Amino acid sequence: MKILGIETSCDETAAAVVENGRKILSNVLASSSSIQSKSGGIIPEIAAREHVTSILPVIKQALFQALLADKNTNFEDIDDAKLVAWARRNIDAIAVTAGPGLIGCLLVGVETAKALSYAWTKPIIPVVHTLAHLYSNWLVKKSPPKMPAVVLTVSGGHTDLLLMKNHGEFQILGSTRDDTAGEAFDKIARSLGLPFPGGPQIQKLAKSGDLKTLVLPRPLLNSNDLDFSFSGLKTAAIREIKTGRYKNDDLAASVQDAICDVLVRKTLRAVEKFKARTVLLAGGVAANTYLRDLLIKKSPVLVEVPPINLCTDNATFVASYAYFNYHPITWKKINAESDTFSTLEKYAMVETTKSKVR
Ligand code: KG4
Ligand code: ZN
Repeated sequence: MKILGIETSCDETAAAVVENGRKILSNVLASSSSIQSKSGGIIPEIAAREHVTSILPVIKQALFQALLADKNTNFEDIDDAKLVAWARRNIDAIAVTAGPGLIGCLLVGVETAKALSYAWTKPIIPVVHTLAHLYSNWLVKKSPPKMPAVVLTVSGGHTDLLLMKNHGEFQILGSTRDDTAGEAFDKIARSLGLPFPGGPQIQKLAKSGDLKTLVLPRPLLNSNDLDFSFSGLKTAAIREIKTGRYKNDDLAASVQDAICDVLVRKTLRAVEKFKARTVLLAGGVAANTYLRDLLIKKSPVLVEVPPINLCTDNATFVASYAYFNYHPITWKKINAESDTFSTLEKYAMVETTKSKVR
């Protein structure tokens, strides 16, 4: 089964075709991050307008790449009409990120997917972005991860710990009470004068730094729950930056160590509590090599990390999620949802206890 995935929840316009949830036939991205880097963060209105400009060229390119990967096709003189005819014949379903994310951005992807579903009479599968991220671990040539798994999804939009018993069987164990880990990286980087997105910049700067120069706070490390909090750590780091007492690379190393230390320790606590057999790392911050190495070093069970290029937002994991959680609905019933918990409840039937709704 070939699924066309569409992703527009934040600043990446993405489309991909994935076969049977694991084989990437195409993966196309247009990012507005270079435009956003000047403002030090994402401006939703600008991101949404960029999606409008990019969505059709990106989908067209994803279909074209998939067609080229299709050995049964004679691809001489491919024009738009032939490409669309190929797509109608070969694409089995359309998957689109329904939420959570920036509402103006989500609407572009969702409405485009609805139009294609209607015009091509193809089933449409609404995808929950936070859960979809973890399917980047299925897009590698390895045997599927052993269940139950503890999933750490850590990005600019979310920092969540989940228990996964099977496809479609997810339980929220904890999430951030304030800033996400990605936000902390981005805001501290901005305070260091680094461009957006800040996570990769901090990782680069930290290489020459000494993390022992400064020990930053680890909020909620000893709390009884599996929640996170990064706002206090962020404020403490920004305060230290303003004093001018420390070198930027030492500060970057301390920041990276503090954030990753909390993420790893809480994840391992969840592994112990729920007797997990695997840890799955996902989300943009999963591209951080210090985090990957620390988690692999400390974990008593196998840690699966996605390929670095599939950690940040793209549509391959959207298509893969849809294959393994195949619940098509009519295009009339799909709506963009900005809120994490309402998206989970509506489209993944994940119960979110009131204590987790913030
Ligand atoms: O998953 P993603 O592309 O978008 C959201 O769904 O939010 O994640 C983007 C986040 C940004 O905060 C970015 O700074 C962070 O992922 N990030 C990193 C690294 N690469 C991306 N953070 C730390 N180290 C990295 N190497
Ligand atoms: Zn994401």
